[in-house]
Amino acid sequence: MNKVKVGIVGLGRLGIQHAENLAFRIPNCELKAICGLNKEQLAELSDKWNIPYTYTSYEEMLQNSELDAIFIASPSNFHCDQIQQALEAGYHVFSEKPLGLYLEEVEKIETIINRHQDKVFMLGFMRRYDDSYAYAKKQIEQGAIGEPVMVRCYGFDPTEGLESFLKFAQKNYSGGIFLDMAVHDFDLARWYLGAEAEQVWAIGGAYSVPAFTELNDAETGAALVKFSNGTMGLFAAGRNSRHGYHIETEIIGTKGSLRIGTVPEKNAVTIFNDAGALKECVSNFNERFAQAYLSEVEEFIHCIQTGSKPAITAKDGVQASLLGYACKESFETGELVHVKA
Ligand code: NAI
Repeated sequence: MNKVKVGIVGLGRLGIQHAENLAFRIPNCELKAICGLNKEQLAELSDKWNIPYTYTSYEEMLQNSELDAIFIASPSNFHCDQIQQALEAGYHVFSEKPLGLYLEEVEKIETIINRHQDKVFMLGFMRRYDDSYAYAKKQIEQGAIGEPVMVRCYGFDPTEGLESFLKFAQKNYSGGIFLDMAVHDFDLARWYLGAEAEQVWAIGGAYSVPAFTELNDAETGAALVKFSNGTMGLFAAGRNSRHGYHIETEIIGTKGSLRIGTVPEKNAVTIFNDAGALKECVSNFNERFAQAYLSEVEEFIHCIQTGSKPAITAKDGVQASLLGYACKESFETGELVHVKA
């Protein structure tokens, strides 16, 4: 079978990890083209990784007829336009989350994606491909905790990244804490509960960094969600986690419960010293989800080669965004909000 030839746009914190996976860790795939704004980085990668094509223009990369698929890891405000351009130019497409930053563009791109059924489209909800999250799903399906009735999610970014996020958000619209950060949790809750969100009440504030108030955003936020089958979701998200990158999920069922990532351990080492028993924590998403980022892309390439479709669809992106927007509205108005059906 021929290798899938891929071009990637966006070589930042996450894009570079995807690029490395595409270039070296997936045997059925060849990273042929890289597109970014930094010419020095492009030249260095092309040289070091032996990548034949480099571009500073996305439109030019799309004219490369050797490519089969486009991988989008650019900032979120580009996703919808770049997905549309790539599909219309005849490529299979992987896009990082979120599907888009505005509801109108997200709903429009779903229609466009659905019109290109002959192409593989995949959205980067990689947690579904994390070994622990996938194992939890299997356990639930096998009845280990009875019927799931509540999903509780914590998503906290390390304090270390706070300053650079603020700089970014002061110049760009980030979507706000619920859409930017909790969108993975919204997807997981829908997946585990098998239902759509109906009503939400969200609150939050700027507790140690007042600048978030000026951005009309929360440094730490919480949302309580009622799902269509009567089940519940409890979501906490924050950007000021002192101990590291803390992603934790609990699924509470009628016959038990299940937790993933209760302590976001770096590895199996416990250090015993003057401070007591110390477990170091993972420091960022690249480290915590390294396996999931690789597995989701393996799935994307596998789907292209076999003509199958990934389990994650554009609809998943839309539904998670609808909930994200309802949270944002509730946070901004202080009202209980009905999620758009
Ligand atoms: P970043 O800001 O570190 O990197 C973005 C890169 O895109 C930069 O290198 C920038 O120069 C480049 N870029 C910007 N405009 C461009 C253009 N017009 N053409 C080509 N390149 C352009 O951002 P980061 O953190 O890597 O995030 C990228 C995307 O990945 C975002 O949409 C974010 O939401 C998503 N993300 C997903 C995560 C996940 O867990 N699935 C984790 C982190 C980010």
